[in-house]
Amino acid sequence: MPSITLYFLLIMLGSVLNGCVMTEEVKRIKASKNYQNKYQKITKGYLNGKQIFIRSCNTCHPGGKASPTGPNIENFASNFKTTNELKQFILKGKASMPAQTILTTDELENLVQYLYAEFQPCNLN
Ligand code: HEC
Repeated sequence: MPSITLYFLLIMLGSVLNGCVMTEEVKRIKASKNYQNKYQKITKGYLNGKQIFIRSCNTCHPGGKASPTGPNIENFASNFKTTNELKQFILKGKASMPAQTILTTDELENLVQYLYAEFQPCNLN
């Protein structure tokens, strides 16, 4: 009889230990789900700069380079005194470059930061 009790206790102890390990795992899964949810909340409804560039600019300025429909934009910063000037340019468009009408304020900011980071890394402001 006492050995059965001992056996039972061992099984209990085992499952408690096992439970701890499981809890760690579950905690990690929960944490990563939390981050995913936060990320989805942040990115829901707006795109980051690179996504916008690929969607709306890359056809004419592939990777910032020239194409038959648009010039090289790798040195764009010298033509815009301020980020605001660049923003207005992007919003209004010019000649065959279409105006951007559906960008949110955040998206425009993201796009501009992306342009500086990607094509004018020394001019980041
Ligand atoms: C349909 C083709 C087309 C698309 C799409 C397009 N552009 Fe352009 N882009 C042009 C053309 C053409 C010019 C030259 C305009 C001019 O000065 O007459 C230009 C000029 C520019 C310039 C100025 C370059 C300089 O050095 O002065 C920048 C910066 C620029 N585009 C960024 C963008 C961004 C950012 C997007 C996406 C939101 C975009 N373009 C989408 C055709 C396009």
